[in-house]
Amino acid sequence: MGKLFNNYQRVDIEFIRAEGNYLFDQEGKAYLDFSSGIGVTNLGFHPAVKTVLKKQAEQIWHTPNLYQNSLQEEVADKLIGFRDYLAYFCNSGAEANEAAIKLARKSTGRQEIISFKNSFHGRTFGSLSASGQDAIKQGFGDGVPHFYYASLNDLDSVKDLVTDDTAAVMLELVQGESGIHVAHKDFVRNLADFCRQTGILLIIDEVQTGMGRTGKLFAFEHYGIEPDIFTLAKGLGNGFPVGAMLGKASLGEAFSYGSHGSTFGGNKLAMAASSAVLDILKEEGFLDTVLSKAASFKQKLAQALANQPLVTEIRGMGYMIGIETESDLSGLVSAARAKGLIILTAGRNVLRLLPPLTLTEEEGDRAIAVLQAVFEEQSAT
Ligand SMILES: Cc1ncc(COP(=O)(O)O)c(C=O)c1O
Repeated sequence: MGKLFNNYQRVDIEFIRAEGNYLFDQEGKAYLDFSSGIGVTNLGFHPAVKTVLKKQAEQIWHTPNLYQNSLQEEVADKLIGFRDYLAYFCNSGAEANEAAIKLARKSTGRQEIISFKNSFHGRTFGSLSASGQDAIKQGFGDGVPHFYYASLNDLDSVKDLVTDDTAAVMLELVQGESGIHVAHKDFVRNLADFCRQTGILLIIDEVQTGMGRTGKLFAFEHYGIEPDIFTLAKGLGNGFPVGAMLGKASLGEAFSYGSHGSTFGGNKLAMAASSAVLDILKEEGFLDTVLSKAASFKQKLAQALANQPLVTEIRGMGYMIGIETESDLSGLVSAARAKGLIILTAGRNVLRLLPPLTLTEEEGDRAIAVLQAVFEEQSAT
């Protein structure tokens, strides 16, 4: 080591093997992965994904986007279902959001995008500029102009920023990176109505909330809205890098030949993995079970942590859960890890749990026991 940029704070453990919802380090120690690799391996290390990747690699793993790609059509079809969208495939969440920003600008002929304070949309210049957090922009000079930031759950703050040049509003329905802040139902519905009435496009960033994370294929389904554009990545390939931008078919003309593209986007391996993931998520009853399992997990978690003085709130949607605390998070995260549980932080004082959707009741109980123990230890110190 020593030859890598220091842009990540890495723990001194390497996971070298995985099985189901468990990771194993060099010493063979098992860790229950309550991060899903930051919302990525939503199905754990699922054998179906491994099988299709191997099979596809035997056949062909890359073709340029100058040729037909029936796997892209297949994945688009599974993502779109009965709705009226077109899909564009890329390799990450940031790229998907770049595509969304470009589509919004080109299709409306307007430039301004309103996003939200504390939002996170990625690290490329466009997606970074869309993100409503100053800390991650420090030192990089001017961002992309024409981004403005409203307050989550405050429609007036959006309206105050609207001009004749507003192309789109861009929103995470649950702000993931900044602390599991859930957008309220009436706010989102009123925002969607307002956008429709004013011809402003509504972009929903489903990079973290999508692919079953909240108990629906897409979080916008909880709200009874259909965004003009939405973006996916993380769980789409269950660990194989892939992103997608879906836009209403009526916006299709703006993305005509040569307007946008990606060498690797929609790669055969990525599409094979995504197709297998979608088959599982769309199995009859799979997501309904996720919803009920997540609700019962959250209830048990709330009971177990009810008397913990350091816990101020437990919130979230489906298996996207935040535990707001009054304590030093790094201590809690490393204490949980020592007990074989991998968890994440979000924002300044929130523990973030993104367990695999395939979590068993026994695994959930095990995680709760570890969390209870680490909170007890922490409050005793
Ligand atoms: C909501 C959201 N959008 C975009 C991104 C960026 O995705 P990527 O890291 O794949 O570029 C993330 C990553 O955490 C995210 O949570």
